[in-house]
Amino acid sequence: MSLPFNPAAISADRLPELLRSMPKAELHMHIEGSLEPELIFALAQRNGVAIPYANVEALRQAYAFTNLQSFLDIYYAGASVLLKEQDFYDMAWAYLQRAAADQVLRTEMFFDPQTHTERGVAMETVVNGLHRACVDAKAKLGVDAQLILCFLRHLSEASAFETLEQALPFRDKFIGVGLDSSELGHPPEKFARVFARCRELGFHLVAHAGEEGPPAYVWSALDVLKVERIDHGVQSAKDPALMKRLAADRIPLTVCPLSNLKLCVFPDLRQHNLGALLDAGLVATVNSDDPAYFGGYLNTNFTETFAATGLTARHAWQLARNGFEGSFAGAEAKRAWLDRVDAHFAAFA
Ligand code: ADE
Ligand code: ZN
Repeated sequence: MSLPFNPAAISADRLPELLRSMPKAELHMHIEGSLEPELIFALAQRNGVAIPYANVEALRQAYAFTNLQSFLDIYYAGASVLLKEQDFYDMAWAYLQRAAADQVLRTEMFFDPQTHTERGVAMETVVNGLHRACVDAKAKLGVDAQLILCFLRHLSEASAFETLEQALPFRDKFIGVGLDSSELGHPPEKFARVFARCRELGFHLVAHAGEEGPPAYVWSALDVLKVERIDHGVQSAKDPALMKRLAADRIPLTVCPLSNLKLCVFPDLRQHNLGALLDAGLVATVNSDDPAYFGGYLNTNFTETFAATGLTARHAWQLARNGFEGSFAGAEAKRAWLDRVDAHFAAFA
């Protein structure tokens, strides 16, 4: 595809401004992972929930992770302050305001209902609070926000089916289903029947695969679950046949560089394989995953990754386009956003 701008007209020192100002889509963020320590403490006080940290600083100090599980233990504990519909609204609204400030025009937000229903919070409370924030985001911020329900893969197939049943009365409030939580030991095929049912019901399908887990988990997410996008997927680079498949079928990978750094998937951001994935022709995108825990929202993911890896304005353009192309929005909305991306790059150059 021909470039709508001259990359030589954008010097490296202008890249951060280009990255911050370009229109973006975010396709991989867990709304519970946007809960900042300040809001955790405010909600704990509002709801009378005890948390085992003296203050905001002490909680932040605990954010030193060695792998995915060490993060998930703290992440689920943080979510325990969410009890009322207004809590879910406040959490989502705080994220959506930050997304708007980062020029995010479209966001597809994951939520983990089992984290809440297992504590006795009703599905209705969770979905209605989050959905009301999405409605307000469109009206007040111009951000198109949609929800994707994630099943926790460390729990059973029966629990996932029960969660689906509880969510179906609210099916007009989420566009798809995903699979998250502890990857190793919980391969996608554990949820083959749940995803088959969700597919029959007409939901969009995604799954975390190849974050810490092997390429085999990406293959089974594609071939058994029949997902439309792979969340993370960075381990795919270890399997040349898988890379060919992902490129040929234009399966988006929702890559989360700062998450990968904080969870020690890569030892250093300079060694991140985002550039290799793009250069191999994959539809890679940049996302924040759990921004309150991993050191930044979407723009920080872009600027820090570009600074560390030496990606170019051409990569920035490709990533901005991939985000909208990989979204589950309708064809007309996608075309309008892609035109805005091209116009932004042409004007910037
Ligand atoms: N839940 C929240 N963040 C996650 C991640 N990075 N991987 C798996 N499950 C998650
Ligand atoms: Zn994730």
